[in-house]
Amino acid sequence: MNFLSANDISKEEINRIFDIADTFVAGKQTASIKEHSVLAMYFEKPSTRTRLSFEVGMTQLGGRAIFIDSRTTQLSRGETYADTARMLSNYCDFIAARLNKHTDLIEMANNSDVPVINALTDLEHPTQGLADLYTIRSHVKSLKDTRIAFMGDLQNNTFNSLMVLAAKEGAEIFLVGPQGYLPKAKYVTKVKEYSKVVATNSLEDGLENADVVYTDTFISMGQEGEAEKRRKMFAPYQLNQKALDMAGKKAIVMHPLPAHRGEEITSDVLDGSRSVAIEQARNKLLLNKALVLYLSQH
Ligand code: CP
Ligand code: NVA
Repeated sequence: MNFLSANDISKEEINRIFDIADTFVAGKQTASIKEHSVLAMYFEKPSTRTRLSFEVGMTQLGGRAIFIDSRTTQLSRGETYADTARMLSNYCDFIAARLNKHTDLIEMANNSDVPVINALTDLEHPTQGLADLYTIRSHVKSLKDTRIAFMGDLQNNTFNSLMVLAAKEGAEIFLVGPQGYLPKAKYVTKVKEYSKVVATNSLEDGLENADVVYTDTFISMGQEGEAEKRRKMFAPYQLNQKALDMAGKKAIVMHPLPAHRGEEITSDVLDGSRSVAIEQARNKLLLNKALVLYLSQH
């Protein structure tokens, strides 16, 4: 089994991974991965949290992770993703890849004999989605009917994954961003299969009664060339105190980090009492461990 997209996983599988995470929290996890298992971490973009949480997680599971900066490999001289994946899967037990193009990740997965994990692409960030959904679950009575509002760049990779995972658990999705700028149709269609999705350019309408207000950078890695245009386009959708006041009184604030303080979110909100950003980061270690353990069993 691979984990390339939020679409790859059913509600039952999400819950099974959450159960494994719960047993880690309770200190009752007895199963582990095969001793000395190796996770190859093939990264084309920078990372702090994802890299470290997989590396620490593999060590805690009794295996190890090997970080590979793509710029130092033969792929940078034109070796194909297919040949790279064939080789990596001969040496290693799992592959986690952070790639520019999602299509390259699919090429790797199609040529790997071991599970491939999406550690972020231009389209999705599903391991972040798992950690985020697990975080939300610990703050609400039930994920079903929980209202999640996302502000800003509605074609964001992190939220593409989270909204599909959350919808599978029955959460309602509110998209708050510029008029006519929506996620790719396949993500909206997927969310609609399971739950409700509302898109609006009105902060008041989109944030009203929200249980969760989520944002991510306006300029994702690889989009630096459009920085000015993006800053202007998304500026009205900054998560600041005024916006937060429009949400439910107990709404939590979420951000996958790294944050661009003063751009998509203000420091007072990110560091405020309703922010769970650090909890999200902490849960990445837990959920990445649970995911690897789950994949090793399937
Ligand atoms: N949230 C997240 O994926 O952070 P990194 O880019 O630091 O891995
Ligand atoms: N959307 C951001 C997430 C970083 C973790 C990016 O792709 O740069």
